[in-house]
Amino acid sequence: MSDLTFNKIAGGLLATGLVIFGLRELTTVMFAHHEPEKAGYAIAVAEGPDEGPAEEVAPDWGTVIPVTNAEVGKAVAAKCASCHTFDAGGANGTGPNLYGILGHKPGARPGFAYSPAMVEYAASHPLWTWDELDHFLKAPAKHMPGTKMTFVGLKKQEDRVAMMAYLNTLGATLPLPAPRPAAAPAEAAPAADAAAAPAAGAAPVEGAAAAAPAPTPAAK
Ligand code: HEC
Repeated sequence: MSDLTFNKIAGGLLATGLVIFGLRELTTVMFAHHEPEKAGYAIAVAEGPDEGPAEEVAPDWGTVIPVTNAEVGKAVAAKCASCHTFDAGGANGTGPNLYGILGHKPGARPGFAYSPAMVEYAASHPLWTWDELDHFLKAPAKHMPGTKMTFVGLKKQEDRVAMMAYLNTLGATLPLPAPRPAAAPAEAAPAADAAAAPAAGAAPVEGAAAAAPAPTPAAK
């Protein structure tokens, strides 16, 4: 009995072991099949929001410019200084003087010989808007093929926003657009308490109203 029983027991254990082992293998195989599927899906989703809108969506100028330190932009402007002056009445160099460029007609600084590309661009763009200048500064040669501005561009959006905030202090004639409604509450939130949250939409308007009267009494 002993041999036969032992064999049966051993066989049973072996079979059980094989089944367990087999299940583990099967599980591994199943998971192995699922993983690439998941990864592929995740990547496809990530590419959309991460690269698309992050690159394409223009800053909400009316919201970001008032809270951006123009001094940071002045530091960024060091990258432009080899070719541009920024002071009122400054000389043209390799590039034209940039005082008051925001809201100015493109390619129209007196005494500067612009590229045909800039002249052509100016024919269809009456003035440098927030978005147009932002796009140009990001990748000059891409936004305006043939431009004489041989500058790689300000790749970081925060650099461009700072640059624009600085240019906005230099005789800019372009009004700041109203903050986008969706972004306004988020920007206003830090200053406002929970009580202001339900009326968050009104917060920027109050802020604007509070800021607006200040210059008027000062002017009289
Ligand atoms: C290597 C020299 C060089 C550098 C660096 C440079 N630019 Fe320029 N920029 C030019 C030239 C040249 C033009 C004229 C382009 C043309 O005619 O196609 C120009 C044109 C411009 C214009 C359009 C001016 C107009 O009258 O319409 C703006 C705005 C401008 N540059 C901003 C900048 C800013 C901001 C920086 C730094 C972040 C910068 N540039 C860096 C050479 C340069």
